Amino acid sequence: MYTKYGPPEVAELRELDKPVPKENEVLIKVYATTVNRTDCGFRSASYFIIRLFSGLFEPKHQVLGNEFAGEIEAIGQDVTSFKVGDQVFGYNDTTFGAHAEYMTMRETDSLTTMPGNLIHHESAPICEGGHYALCDIRAAKVKGGQDVLVNGATGAIGSAAVQLLKHFGANVTAVCGTKNLALVKSLGADEVIDYLKVDFIKTGKKFDFIYDAVGKSSFGKCKPLLKKHGIYKSTELGKNSENIFLALITPVLGGKRVLFPIPTINKEDVVFLKELVEKGAFKPVVDRQYKLEQIVEAYKYVETGQKIGNVVINLMQ
Ligand SMILES: NC(=O)c1ccc[n+]([C@@H]2O[C@H](COP(=O)([O-])OP(=O)(O)OC[C@H]3O[C@@H](n4cnc5c(N)ncnc54)[C@H](OP(=O)(O)O)[C@@H]3O)[C@@H](O)[C@H]2O)c1
Repeated sequence: MYTKYGPPEVAELRELDKPVPKENEVLIKVYATTVNRTDCGFRSASYFIIRLFSGLFEPKHQVLGNEFAGEIEAIGQDVTSFKVGDQVFGYNDTTFGAHAEYMTMRETDSLTTMPGNLIHHESAPICEGGHYALCDIRAAKVKGGQDVLVNGATGAIGSAAVQLLKHFGANVTAVCGTKNLALVKSLGADEVIDYLKVDFIKTGKKFDFIYDAVGKSSFGKCKPLLKKHGIYKSTELGKNSENIFLALITPVLGGKRVLFPIPTINKEDVVFLKELVEKGAFKPVVDRQYKLEQIVEAYKYVETGQKIGNVVINLMQ
């Protein structure tokens, strides 16, 4: 848990009371969770805007962790859609709480039973990168046959985006570093560009959608690569938060535009991602696994900006 905003070291292990589910809630014994960029954003609150959600001066919810996979240990008296013993996974960026051995959620929240073909540490990382990618791909209304570039194809969002875009029938050009070319190709990318050797801006190809899943480019630089009504989306706010302003202005001007949709997730999205996993169309990439006791190390690694897909915390004894 953390009681103040700051660097990885503000996270510390403490004994807490086991939560008791209300009548419409389930008690989940967490077997696997992740440390991801959303946790880092809420822990550091270095973007002031985050404090509007996380608490102005100190964190409102002191146990982070938004992704989880585990087992239903108890249910409230009104719960009908889950039973004790169900293996579940999901996402909670409202009250968080997955960096603990137990958490509660309402049965109607963003959780469902685990895909039959994955185990806990593979199911926990389905939702964070998966739902950001899904929101952005839906906002861009990507259709089969469109040309899409994904920059940062080895992040949690980028590696999910490549797989989801292939599922929606797009032609995907993915940008990543030398050591991960084969991995990104295995995710389904049609073409892979090594950013350490080639600047994708200079490749000359045109795209319907440029998805900068690691927030390292800008609309200005990517504009020449966009087709006439092409769309640019970055996962970062950009210089002086320009992507927010551009998302307000460019759609009014017509032509090439920037999107900055507010990410959302609900139970239907979690079920949709589960179905993709069961069809073999999506599998989250798992990088390092840590124990809960090593969570500060996990935060430090995630903040190197070098993780490949997802960093998992394993709580199974
Ligand atoms: N504030 C929030 O709440 C929040 C939430 C979610 C995501 N985000 C933002 O979304 C972005 C993606 O997050 P993520 O968790 O999916 O991934 P991530 O962990 O930030 O991405 C790491 C990957 O990006 C690659 N990479 C780094 N620089 C690159 C470059 N110039 N070109 C291409 N690839 C590059 C790295 O590969 P190499 O090691 O090979 O370079 C690494 O595999 C981040 O910018 C993050 O801050 C923010």
